[in-house]
Amino acid sequence: MDSRLNRSDPTWRKLSRSSLPLIAIGGARGVDHKPAIRLTMLLVCLLLAVPPTLSQDSPSAGCAAEELLRQQQTVAEFLPLDFAADHAQAIANLYRLGALYQSMALYCDYQPNAVEVNALLERALEYVSLDELIAAQSVGRDIDAIMTELDEVYGDPLAGQQLYNGAQPALGGVMLGCSGCHENVASAPLTAGTWTRADETRLSLPQFADYDVRRYLVESIVQPSAYLAPDYDDIMPDFYAGQLTTQQLADLVAYLESQDQLLDDV
Ligand code: HEC
Repeated sequence: MDSRLNRSDPTWRKLSRSSLPLIAIGGARGVDHKPAIRLTMLLVCLLLAVPPTLSQDSPSAGCAAEELLRQQQTVAEFLPLDFAADHAQAIANLYRLGALYQSMALYCDYQPNAVEVNALLERALEYVSLDELIAAQSVGRDIDAIMTELDEVYGDPLAGQQLYNGAQPALGGVMLGCSGCHENVASAPLTAGTWTRADETRLSLPQFADYDVRRYLVESIVQPSAYLAPDYDDIMPDFYAGQLTTQQLADLVAYLESQDQLLDDV
């Protein structure tokens, strides 16, 4: 795989605008990078994860340099990056640190400029390919693992709606366009009423005895062929597990959970 990406490639531009925390690159190849490089990777994560449209209040006193340094040292202490001792744990900690630093940046009104983002992205791609980066960020297909992760993530229905309608890109800059199928009842179950339909119709089936609505929706998205809604063909794309971060999946689910009108045709 070519780890270099041409700057004029549209994927580059979309990627550098999309929220792609690049935190995984430390572990993606099993390389124990030097601390300075790890720090860069954390920064990359932090920079790219800041949504460009976010509007924030003015920075608070908690954003003073000493206070930020103290906070960083505290979280870093609890999340050691000892790749030699426990590789998997170190990667997990790297992710968590990235997420925490990201929250701190958001709170402190930090917005990276395009030049910074591009420079860091370029540096990150020296270590790992774009495909690997995207794969490392995606939710995958393991429903139990996803449900555990979702417990810790707050889904934003508005962000979910934008992903669903193709107004905002998912991982790697792709537009999902779920609404393209789900607005026409002839091609797919309607978006409106999804929650009610899942709760009252799907979950009454014996194979979903252990499910709640959220689990049903998650499975429908990352493993669409696991269950086929009656009267529909198996046409829903099977690749979303590789195109969504946990946050994006949480957002989509939150949006679908808000679609709770009762419908006649279910
Ligand atoms: C090419 C058309 C198509 C696209 C694009 C598509 N879907 Fe679907 N979807 C379907 C069809 C057809 C079904 C019903 C058959 C089945 O259960 O797989 C379905 C089923 C579902 C269900 C279960 C609904 C129910 O009533 O049980 C959910 C939830 C869902 N899709 C969400 C999504 C999301 C979220 C996206 C975008 C990330 C998406 N779909 C993209 C065609 C599509």
